[in-house]
Amino acid sequence: MVQALASLPGTARGFMQTLRTDRWWVEPALVFVSMSLFFGWLTVSILMDFGPLGHYEVEGTHFLSPVFEPTWLSAINADWSGAWYLSPAFIVLLGPVPFRATCYYYRRAYYRSFFFSPPGCAVGDVGETYKGEAKLPLIMQNAHRFFMYIALIFVPLLWIGAIRSLHVPGEGWGIGLGSAFLLLNAFLLMMYTFSCHSLRHFIGGGLNCFSCSKVTRTRKRLWDYVTTFNERHRLWAWSSLLVIVFVDIYIRLVANGYITDPNTWSKF
Ligand code: FES
Repeated sequence: MVQALASLPGTARGFMQTLRTDRWWVEPALVFVSMSLFFGWLTVSILMDFGPLGHYEVEGTHFLSPVFEPTWLSAINADWSGAWYLSPAFIVLLGPVPFRATCYYYRRAYYRSFFFSPPGCAVGDVGETYKGEAKLPLIMQNAHRFFMYIALIFVPLLWIGAIRSLHVPGEGWGIGLGSAFLLLNAFLLMMYTFSCHSLRHFIGGGLNCFSCSKVTRTRKRLWDYVTTFNERHRLWAWSSLLVIVFVDIYIRLVANGYITDPNTWSKF
């Protein structure tokens, strides 16, 4: 098929050659800049527990950056810190980072924007480096389903963290702008996970008959939901990434005393 297309008059042959007259390069360029910025910040954040933005939890509250959820990992780390030190975020991100890195949508995005393989539809490849995902190293992408199982564990953990932020010890329950951001973050990461292609296959795949039993009918109903979410997977992917970076920065600004979070306790 590729050869057939390449033999058509005017079809791309060399790197970046194309007959396309639209601004096909805008999307890969935006993806390159956005991914570099957002994933770059998250990498810095994982390692940053010192310096002017070093605090990632507001003292005396349950107001914690979602990058460091669940909070009990911090406690375990504190107990062990005499023997070794590893950021709790680093442990947490062993699940969600490979989940995102192997995501079907992100693969398409970074194959185009970072590896130019190809840079766009009907645009010349960097040298036909893409040989499928059946050999090392790209065969590792097939582990996405297993990272999805781990990512599912983080959905309730993030909701618990967001709901805990509504309670301040000694003050009671209330709400603030930061808590609202944490709830939004939990919602978007849940939607990103629930719209995953692998989850859709896990729920509705491998069946020959949807209507044959109660179980398969239930699976069909769930599959319909996931299919609806899946149609907006790119939206959930970007919105959840943007918001987790924004919330991490916001909480660091509050925790390090640069801004005050408007809330019903009026203390932080
Ligand atoms: S396909 Fe994107 S998270 Fe699974």
